[in-house]
Amino acid sequence: MTYSRIIGTGSHLPEKVLTNADLERIVDTNDQWIRERTGIHERRVVGENESTIDLAEGAARNAMSAAGVDKSDIDLIIVATTTPDRVFPSTACLLQQRLDIHGCPAFDVQAVCTGFIYAVGVADSMIRSGAANTALIVGAEAMSRIIDWSDRGTCVLFGDGAGAVVLQASEEPGILTTRLHADGAYEELLYVPYGVSTNPDKIRDGEAYVQMRGNEVFRVAVKTLGRIVDETLAETGLEKSDIDWLIPHQANIRIINATARKLDLPLERVVVTVDTHGNTSAASVPMALDVAVRDGRIRQDELLLMEAFGGGFTWGSVLVRY
Ligand code: UT7
Repeated sequence: MTYSRIIGTGSHLPEKVLTNADLERIVDTNDQWIRERTGIHERRVVGENESTIDLAEGAARNAMSAAGVDKSDIDLIIVATTTPDRVFPSTACLLQQRLDIHGCPAFDVQAVCTGFIYAVGVADSMIRSGAANTALIVGAEAMSRIIDWSDRGTCVLFGDGAGAVVLQASEEPGILTTRLHADGAYEELLYVPYGVSTNPDKIRDGEAYVQMRGNEVFRVAVKTLGRIVDETLAETGLEKSDIDWLIPHQANIRIINATARKLDLPLERVVVTVDTHGNTSAASVPMALDVAVRDGRIRQDELLLMEAFGGGFTWGSVLVRY
């Protein structure tokens, strides 16, 4: 049986740091509120001449180097992003060009904060079916570009960055299961009101911003992530106690804590980056994974549960033997 294995991880953050103190000067907020309600201390944001593709390229190169693969080994590229550089070509095609890779399939996946989990799910299916052997999967976002910097309900939450993994076919597991879900009925709780086919003028005038009914999103997120934990374990017949690391989407420390409690997992076994990254949407899970791989916390053969929840609503999980 063929599985897909993670053989390398990488990430890339923009240099510019935006602290809670910086935000106090922009909107009516304060460091204490942001820390207590979200767990965020600071986040990174792209500079004027920087964009999603720059972050994606940095993360992709780091992951390929960690995996020890050459550009000629990559036969599939998927980029998860909500903030692409262009309407087209896709960010994946732009990345392919930057990496001087030619001919393999390259496409974007748009599932907002769950985008990386979706991309891994698609790549895993393609690798197991034999359609690909070595896939480069990137979650990359410049969320700061679609934030209303006068809305304290959203501007304190988001950050920019990119994370990546290289997945390769293997006889050894590998990814054990991926669970992907969506329910479009929740559109009104979390959305950007304009798009290129409806109000292109609003995009041009910079008015296409994230709108969120945070408290309602919070409640659905906690409930839904609790359910996906049960579903993922039931699918594989594994127990909560088998999980070595939870690598959650980094939206809010209180949501992360609720999922850890559901798993009876001590917080030392949860990878938390929300304090320094904020919510980087599709980039948050692969960046958290990379941080914990590089600082030596995550070791080979450990069982990792990655999960995410976001606009759509979309949600999903990946259970992987590292
Ligand atoms: O990644 C995609 C999915 N997104 C999420 O999972 C985000 C989910 N939601 C959340 O993380 C939380 O709901 C928030 C962090 C957005 C908000 O926390 P909350 O505990 O749900 O606060 P709230 O919206 O109920 O607001 C409580 C109070 C309100 O004031 P009043 O009405 O009680 O006087 C807000 O106006 O906090 C106020 N508030 C703020 N105060 C200072 C809202 N934003 C701020 C702010 N600074 N930035």
